[in-house]
Amino acid sequence: MKITSIKGFSDILPEEVGTWQQVEAVARRVFTAYNFAEIRIPIVEKTELFSRSIGETTDIVEKEMYTFADRDSRSADHAEGTKLTLRPEGTAGVVRAYVEAEMYKVEPARKLYYMGPMFRRERPQKGRMRQFHQIGAEALGRGDPFIDAEVLLLLNDFFESLGLTEPTLQLNSLGDAECRPQYREKLLAFLKAREESLCANCRRRIDRNPLRALDCKESGCIEATKDAPSILESLCVNCRDHFGTVQRLLRETNVKYTLNPRMVRGLDYYCRTTFEWTTAQLGSQSAIAAGGRYDGLVEQLGGPAIPGVGFAMGVERLTMLLKMQESAANTGPSLYVVWVGEQARDWAFPLVHRLRKNNLNVEMEGEARSLKSQMRRADKFNAVSVLIVGDDELAKGKALLRDMTSKRQEEIGLDGIEAELLARKIG
Ligand code: HAM
Repeated sequence: MKITSIKGFSDILPEEVGTWQQVEAVARRVFTAYNFAEIRIPIVEKTELFSRSIGETTDIVEKEMYTFADRDSRSADHAEGTKLTLRPEGTAGVVRAYVEAEMYKVEPARKLYYMGPMFRRERPQKGRMRQFHQIGAEALGRGDPFIDAEVLLLLNDFFESLGLTEPTLQLNSLGDAECRPQYREKLLAFLKAREESLCANCRRRIDRNPLRALDCKESGCIEATKDAPSILESLCVNCRDHFGTVQRLLRETNVKYTLNPRMVRGLDYYCRTTFEWTTAQLGSQSAIAAGGRYDGLVEQLGGPAIPGVGFAMGVERLTMLLKMQESAANTGPSLYVVWVGEQARDWAFPLVHRLRKNNLNVEMEGEARSLKSQMRRADKFNAVSVLIVGDDELAKGKALLRDMTSKRQEEIGLDGIEAELLARKIG
């Protein structure tokens, strides 16, 4: 019996690896220009690392982690009850390593980057895998807004270097320990007044994690939170100044962004600046890269009070975008001549020759194939237009011209067809 791969876990086949290597090489180059150094951290960590940092009430910790009891429960490291987890993200592991190696003792400001597989037991769909790959960066030890802007500029440069013009930046601030609790109370009161309209999930975590309701995709929750108070109007002076500077730096360096006060993020460690780079080209899984500031995390994981900011991008989504861009640029022949019947073929052959002499990229088959099979091949070769001619059409002095993008079809007279096709500048 054939053994197949697990649902949501994919091979990256040799044909695809080139794009992955290109993405990784550009990332390394840009990271190095911004003085980030690579760190390699384990794929398996103690479960507690993730539940404590990402947050007990997040989707990731509640239902998406691959957690297991290690066989050797006798060793001190795996004391009874200690569970292990396949990492669902990289930030927690990087911060653990930073604290464990006491990197801050030499110099607290460290810029680190990583690449590798992450694991979340989500429902697989286009752009959403159970094993996926991230390239991420964490800047530890700096609380100033310049480093927030620097991280965003790095991402902007990275997208530009890959020739990706489309991802757009959405920006928010989640406040800090001073202003977030007040906002939380305000939002909680607002939600409680509309509790019956919220979905079961949001109702369940309303007290522990009310902000999640702003991010819920259920129509009832979207409607109920339409006029919810905005976090950006509740920021304290320090957070407002910090966020104002980040925005000023982005404007001064021509990085476009939109403010999205409803952007909450699915991990609980964030404070102040949070962001997502999204694209309209990948359907519902639109986030290419995401991240933000996490000033309490180092301390929460047993280190000193040291701030941090970072992001991670999804490599599967990046390579999908690159492939789509490539196929858009690679349009194949301008005209594909589909013929049915020998007379039609003999009529088409010299026409194709004349069009080619006029520098039109034209293709036709030599062997007889069905109309359907030729149309499929025209599609496969990415032809811009198809000219369909059969013996019947020939007798009527007409052919069909089909635009492969709009799928619109029209009749075109055979008299003077060469001049007509050239005049239309097909392709
Ligand atoms: P995240 O938003 O959970 O953040 O993931 C970052 C990116 O990883 C997403 O924008 C997406 O491109 C990709 N991604 C996430 N889940 C999947 C999946 N199931 N399949 C495919 N791609 C996926 C984090 O992980 C934070 N650690 C980012 C960060 C770093 N914040 C601060 N530093």
